[in-house]
Order: sequence, then structure tokens, then C-alpha cells
Amino acid sequence: MAYPDFRPRRLRSTESLRKLVSETHIQVSDLVAPLFVSEVLAEPAEVSSLPGVFQHTQQSLLNEVAELVELGVPGIILFGLPKYKDAVGSEAWNPDGVVQVALSEISAKFGSEISIMSDLCLDEYTDHGHCGIVEQDGTVNNDKTLELYAEVALAQARAGAQVIAPSGMMDGQVGAIRKALDGEGYTDLPILAYSAKFASSFYGPFRDAVNVQIAGGGNRKAYQQDWHNSRESAVEVALDLAEGADMVMVKPALAYLDVISQVREQVDCPVAAYQVSGEYAMIKAAAANGWVDGDALMWETLTAIKRAGASFILSYFAKDVARELSS
Ligand code: PBG
Repeated sequence: MAYPDFRPRRLRSTESLRKLVSETHIQVSDLVAPLFVSEVLAEPAEVSSLPGVFQHTQQSLLNEVAELVELGVPGIILFGLPKYKDAVGSEAWNPDGVVQVALSEISAKFGSEISIMSDLCLDEYTDHGHCGIVEQDGTVNNDKTLELYAEVALAQARAGAQVIAPSGMMDGQVGAIRKALDGEGYTDLPILAYSAKFASSFYGPFRDAVNVQIAGGGNRKAYQQDWHNSRESAVEVALDLAEGADMVMVKPALAYLDVISQVREQVDCPVAAYQVSGEYAMIKAAAANGWVDGDALMWETLTAIKRAGASFILSYFAKDVARELSS
């Protein structure tokens, strides 16, 4: 051993000493708050599997963003719950669609105070719940879906999105979106690519939040990554960067710290991590039963995600963290 006399416990003996030698700290500037906006609700509704998270009306969404701005949270990411769904998800690119309306209101009021990201996918808008166009045989058609993603990107850009975040895991999605954006002069609009996104059961509560059920009890294993594998994440990340992504994401976070750390080594651009709905719900549910200390686990998990290499974290804890840091 290199240091035979080193006794690591010596540096753990007091609170102040531990503080002095601690390496990783969560700051409010590390966080992005995911927000849900509904076209049908007259009042905001709490998502039962995500305590503290709401399906918002346009008005309650603005109030929530105002609060986040006040607390210094630097980013939000928007998800929409449309009134109408169809086979192709056409509300996703309707200029008057629920997310487009929210984007334009938020950017008019808070555009210079918070980064407004929009998730780009079709699953909230399709009646079958898949992230793209479904063929007769039940498969999702990659290339036809790309044409629609390009439309959605343009609708979101025109409405005021400041970061476009494609989450559908179609091959070539970043390139298709970049080309469409550049074609309309949105050359400065950045893309946050959900690059290493796994087909995870941790998304369960999110599907309550957006009212999405996949037809016939299906799943997304034919397009999202298989969680037995980590190496293909490197390929996904490399492809997305080659196609014009400005930042890449790993999702979920806590069960994928190895992937976050590998991607951090691989690239020099910002690496986002998404602490997803199921990660939040597990902590909240266990804490509600008195089985764990939920607040302590919030800090421990977020710090672990940052320690693994995340540049910033999308998390339903964003507001709680900001509140605690400002109190
Ligand atoms: C796709 C999308 C999903 C999430 C973010 N974007 C769901 C999915 O891929 O099934 C999940 C986020 C979470 O669980 O918090 N639109």
C-alpha cells in the first residue's frame, strides 16, 4: 500500500472537517425542473404517484415558473397533455397545441430568466402511446417518424423553446431536427439529446403524469436502449454529437451511474442526467411509510449523480432543493 500510515477516519471526525474535504455539492444551478401542462384541466391536479408534482393549467404553470425563477432554478423542461390524440400525434406540432401555447407564454414572461426546454416526442400525443408512427405490423417506423419530429421541432422553436430535447430514441433524430431548425434560421437553438435512454420501468409514474398507456400493454424495447448493455450508449452519444447535438443525456440516472461516468469520460460537452419519475416516487413512497429519510435521500442521490459526472440534473426534486438551499 502506498500510504501505510494513512487513516482515512481521521478526516471524518468532525462536521467541519468533513465539510472542508467534501468534493461534490449540489447547487440550485445544477437543476432543471420537469413540468407538465394540460389542455383539459380547469384546476391543477397533483399526480398521485408523484407527490408534489402537478398537471398544470396554463395559469398554474406560469405561477410555478415564477416560483422557480424566484428560487433561482436555471431551467425547466415541458411536457404536454393534449385534449386530442390521434395515430400520428398531430397535436405535437399544432401551433396552438398545449406545449406551444405554454412555450410562448413562458418565453414572453420569463424568457430571459430561465432556460425553457421542450421535450420532443410523440408519445403524449399518439392514441397508441408509442413515440412514433406505428405500422400495420405494430413496429414503429423510424424514418417516417423523423419527418414528424422535424415538424414538432419547428413548432416548438417558433413558439419560443430555447432548447429542444428529443427523447424518442429514433435513429437520426438529432440530424433531422438540426436540419429542420437550420433550414428556418434557428441555427443558434441548441439540442439536448436524450442519447442514452433506456427502456426502463422507472418511467412508470411519468406515464400517470402524462396519461399515456402503450396500446396492448406494449413497451418501448424496440427503440429505447436495453439495460443489459452499456457500450451502445457510447455509440448513441457519438452519433448524436456527429448529427449536431450540443448536449447529451443519460436517463434514468441512479441505476445508470456507470453510464453517466462513461459518457463523461467520452465527451467534452455537457452531460445531463434525468432522475426520472420512478426514482423520485420510490423515495417519496418509502419516506411516506417512514422507511427512509426522504430528504436525506434527495441529497444523497442527487450528489451521487453529480459525482458520477452529470453537468446538470433533470429532477422532480428541483424545487425542494432550491427551497432548502435558499432557506
Ligand atoms: C418520452 C419521455 C418519457 C420520459 C421523458 N420523456 C417516457 C418514456 O420514454 O416512456 C420519462 C420521464 C420520467 O419518467 O420522469 N416522451
